[in-house]
Amino acid sequence: MTRRKKIIAGNWKMNFNIQEASIFLHNLEKEVAVHRDVEVVLAPTMLALQPLSLQVNRRQFKLAAQNFHFQDYGAFTGEVSATQLRGLVEYGIVGHSERRHIFRETDKMIRSKVQAAIRNRIRPILCIGETAQQKSEGETADVIHDQLVGGLANVTSDELKDIVIAYEPVWAIGTGNNALPSDVKHAIKAIRSQIRHLYGAAAAEEIQVLYGGSVKPDSATAYLQVEGVDGLLVGGASLSVHDFAAIAAKAHGLSEDE
Ligand code: 13P
Repeated sequence: MTRRKKIIAGNWKMNFNIQEASIFLHNLEKEVAVHRDVEVVLAPTMLALQPLSLQVNRRQFKLAAQNFHFQDYGAFTGEVSATQLRGLVEYGIVGHSERRHIFRETDKMIRSKVQAAIRNRIRPILCIGETAQQKSEGETADVIHDQLVGGLANVTSDELKDIVIAYEPVWAIGTGNNALPSDVKHAIKAIRSQIRHLYGAAAAEEIQVLYGGSVKPDSATAYLQVEGVDGLLVGGASLSVHDFAAIAAKAHGLSEDE
């Protein structure tokens, strides 16, 4: 039994232009019911955040930025800051594996982004997870430890309440090679145990932890039933109104059963 609210977040990555994003939201509005026990979060392209913020019913959906810079303003050509996003989004994804691996973001940058989000009243969704090679070498728990310690280094106990952790094993992202619920269970346990070590038992019990990696409507329930999982970070399946609405509906059904 948990009192933690479920979060179903759709990371649209670099898909949909502004008009497509608007139409998609319009269609999704008709399919996703509002439930107090489930927060449905959408992370569209940066370009669409402003128009969608005017269109969206914030009781039904919260918006998230997929990325942002860690400084509030300045000479950072091409970047967007958390200060500029303030008020537009409730959440900000930080440390996604595509940012870590393709754009070479370090734990130091990720930690600064976590701070920037908190400073600007944006809830960070801190993504962590091991690569296939790290998994095969038995390093999953070490990677979780290092990425949590690295990302949360400057976070106080009070600030931790605003942070969401997403466990996204890199080998499961966009591959269809989804993790076994037992893999997820072990990883989530390692995450909560690390949070307990850093912030105490109450914080470890309170923090919301999501799973992400090739989640589809037919696998969603199995992940949501894993002990300690409070929701899902969905990539590919969040680009289908039907699939994403089905996943969100499953989170509500489960909470009712509790
Ligand atoms: P997929 O669901 O496409 O594997 O992507 C997961 C992800 O990266 C969400 O942030």
